[in-house]
Amino acid sequence: MALSDLIVVNHRKAAKADALAPAGLDGCVVRTCLREVQVTTRAQINGAAAHLPHTDANGASTELYQGAEAYSFLLRLATGLESEIVGETEIFGQIKQAWRDFETQDDARPLRPWMQRLLQETKEIRSEYVVGLGSATYGSLTRRLLGGRPEGITLLLGAGQLAATILPYLDGTDLRIHNRNPARAFAMLAEARQRHGGSVTVLDPGLDAELAVWREARDIIICVPADAERDVARAQAWRDHAAARGGRLLHLGVRGSEGTAFNGLPNVATLDEMFSLRDSQAGQRTALLNRARKACLDKAQLARLDDADGSRSGSSHHGWEDLAVFQAQVAW
Ligand SMILES: NC(=O)c1ccc[n+]([C@@H]2O[C@H](COP(=O)([O-])OP(=O)(O)OC[C@H]3O[C@@H](n4cnc5c(N)ncnc54)[C@H](OP(=O)(O)O)[C@@H]3O)[C@@H](O)[C@H]2O)c1
Repeated sequence: MALSDLIVVNHRKAAKADALAPAGLDGCVVRTCLREVQVTTRAQINGAAAHLPHTDANGASTELYQGAEAYSFLLRLATGLESEIVGETEIFGQIKQAWRDFETQDDARPLRPWMQRLLQETKEIRSEYVVGLGSATYGSLTRRLLGGRPEGITLLLGAGQLAATILPYLDGTDLRIHNRNPARAFAMLAEARQRHGGSVTVLDPGLDAELAVWREARDIIICVPADAERDVARAQAWRDHAAARGGRLLHLGVRGSEGTAFNGLPNVATLDEMFSLRDSQAGQRTALLNRARKACLDKAQLARLDDADGSRSGSSHHGWEDLAVFQAQVAW
């Protein structure tokens, strides 16, 4: 498939909405808490893109990229340059998983060379520019928001991707994990690269077992979506017990506490506070990130040159010298 037939549709959710992206997307779909990205072909998208770009009344927006711009956007997305925590690595895992889920379908065949090229070039850009960015990950920011090395009993709610990312940063604590499905919590522990230095207990799934630990824990990290019913009981337990111990409640399932049962409670932080902390340490990262963005653009330009050669789409044949010549020609 020619590069010019590559289409990427970026559905960005509204800050305060749960999920506003259209259902039933065709192609390879990457779902994150901020957006849904549809990787597809010109033939598949057909007339469906006629109304794009589009922004709705809640602020959710949809934009379409084609050809080299689509590839460049995918590189920025996969290297974490489009993420709220710029440079984070979870998004790369989410893209690889979305592609694994999709690649066995017939519709996947035209996309395969470009996706393979994307996965390879993402690794190259990450290792050259992004790995040295320092510690703006969900785990490291969690640890800083908890005031350094957590101590005492820590309750981690959830066993999904976010909880797994944060788990290594809770090392050494008396850790209690509560998940709706305890088997997933055991699987998360089994997959964790390093052994937890303290003790770990996976709790029974019921609310009673969870609330018992809310009454004992010093720090609590919520990595599950907001739950109107349970959050009332959780907030009450925080107000009556845990807050007095001087710990911190970190709710990463919501952008802010406004409109939730936790609004106004002491020592509560949400994604908004985490993003503010990230911003305050962002300065020194800017230069490296600019170089990573330039690398995404250059690689998309090289993809365009390779594609212009005809049958070699998806594999890399031109080098940086060709890019320099091409850019000099464009400058003329
Ligand atoms: N991944 C990120 O980079 C990221 C970044 C910022 C914020 N977040 C937010 O963090 C939360 C978790 O995200 P994730 O990426 O870890 O998702 P995930 O991998 O899909 O895992 C979802 C987690 O939430 C639990 N869960 C989902 N619906 C639930 C419900 N109705 N009742 C009780 N538990 C429920 C799941 O329990 P089961 O295992 O039992 O299904 C699992 O532990 C979401 O609110 C997400 O928006 C994620």
